[in-house]
Amino acid sequence: MGSILVQLAVAAGAHVVAAARGARKLDAARALGAAAAVDYAQAGWTEQVREVTGGGPDVVFDGVGGAIGRAAFEITARGGRFSVHGVASGEPTFVDPQEARERGVRVLAIEQLFTFGPRMRGWAEQIMAAAAAGHVRPMIGRTFPLEQAAAAQAAIESRQALGKTVIAVN
Ligand SMILES: NC(=O)c1ccc[n+]([C@@H]2O[C@H](COP(=O)([O-])OP(=O)(O)OC[C@H]3O[C@@H](n4cnc5c(N)ncnc54)[C@H](OP(=O)(O)O)[C@@H]3O)[C@@H](O)[C@H]2O)c1
Repeated sequence: MGSILVQLAVAAGAHVVAAARGARKLDAARALGAAAAVDYAQAGWTEQVREVTGGGPDVVFDGVGGAIGRAAFEITARGGRFSVHGVASGEPTFVDPQEARERGVRVLAIEQLFTFGPRMRGWAEQIMAAAAAGHVRPMIGRTFPLEQAAAAQAAIESRQALGKTVIAVN
C-alpha cells in the first residue's frame, strides 16, 4: 500500500514524506519519488517529519496503527486529514474524536470503505490504466514457487519483504 500511495501522491503533485523501517525501504521510497524518507524505528522520527514538512504533514495515510499511527496522528497539521487504511502492527490507531475536532483534523477511518461501492469499478479501471501506461508500478519484492509458500509467508511475517511477495502457481 505504501509504495502505491507514494507513487499516486507524487503524481498528484504532493511533497511526499515516506515513513518506514530500515535503509532498504527508505531507499525504495525515495526511488519512487518521495522527497524525504524517515525511519520510524529511530527515536526522533516525528521531529524529522515536522522539519521536512514545515510543521507537520497535511495528509497522513496510516497503514500501520499502534504507537506509530498514534505518533503520526499527533504530528498531523492543524486542519489536515488523517486516513487510516490498515493495522499492520496489529493495533488500531487510537484517536480521540474530541482531540481531532479541536485540532480541526478530519479522520477517515475504515468506515470510508462503506461508501466505496458504486465507485470501485471506476477506480479499478483508473489504477489499471495508470499501471498499463507505466505511471504506477507494483513493487514486487520476491517471487516464490508454490512449494515454498511457507517461506513466502515467513518473509512477510518477519518484515523482510519489500513490496508485494508473489507466489508463482504455474
Ligand atoms: N493491500 C491492500 O490492498 C490493502 C487495502 C486496504 C487496507 N490494507 C491494510 O493496510 C495494511 C498494510 O497493507 P499492505 O498490503 O501494505 O501490507 P504490507 O505490504 O505487509 O506492509 C505493511 C508494512 O507495515 C509495516 N509495519 C509496521 N509495524 C509492523 C508490525 N508490527 N508488523 C508488521 N508490519 C509492520 C511494515 O514495514 P516496516 O517493516 O518498514 O515497518 C510492513 O512493510 C494492512 O493492515 C492491510 O490489511 C491493505
